[in-house]
Amino acid sequence: METPIVNLSDEELKTVYDPSEDSYLLIDALEADLEVLHTIKPVICLEIGSGSGVVITALAMALKKYHNAHFIAIDINPDACRATKRTSLINSVDVNVLHMNLLDCIQVRYTFDVILFNPPYVVTESEEVLDNRFIFKTWVGGKSDRQVMEQIFTMIPKILSDAGLFYLVVIKENDPEYILSVFQKLGMSGKIIRERKIRGEYLYILRFCKVRSKMR
Ligand SMILES: C[S@@+](CC[C@H](N)C(=O)[O-])C[C@H]1O[C@@H](n2cnc3c(N)ncnc32)[C@H](O)[C@@H]1O
Repeated sequence: METPIVNLSDEELKTVYDPSEDSYLLIDALEADLEVLHTIKPVICLEIGSGSGVVITALAMALKKYHNAHFIAIDINPDACRATKRTSLINSVDVNVLHMNLLDCIQVRYTFDVILFNPPYVVTESEEVLDNRFIFKTWVGGKSDRQVMEQIFTMIPKILSDAGLFYLVVIKENDPEYILSVFQKLGMSGKIIRERKIRGEYLYILRFCKVRSKMR
């Protein structure tokens, strides 16, 4: 999978997440899953919290050789929305970008074939989640460290297509096993598909599908 060109200005770097090990681990996981992704022939792919746009652009670049899919990205930070759009265009793909809080305006059912989320996951005081500075939105996970990501968990089975896949980046402190059990109760089967220890963090990529679609 090709790594997209990302050009964030110094000004943008004040608020937009600079692609890091977590972003690239998610891209690695998608690359390893390309065969699975081709099998489900995704029509609409969604990234929540796209930041620079590096991940959704990498996916769009990889899939465009095989399918005519649509790519949608959401971010709460307007600078990130602009960066995502630009990253997609300079890499010759097109991502539709929505400036939005999580899945607030998404009401469609069973629409997305691939959903990606590399959420803010760092352990902080819960009040910090309420800090509206955009750079905080890139990493502040709240007291349970799952305060932000947890807000969308129950929506995932409602908006994911029957054969669809949901990819989530977490760290050890988020308790991946607990998250897997939460999704099990929501009728989704999940597993750890990639993990990596980096400076001061243990990262995991979790992948989920609906139980009736049988985990690949
Ligand atoms: C860890 S960064 C990941 C950025 C990018 N996906 C990557 O992997 O490089 C988290 C992203 O989620 C966005 N974000 C945080 N809270 C959000 C919310 N409530 N709604 C939408 N996006 C949010 C942040 O602005 C940031 O771009």
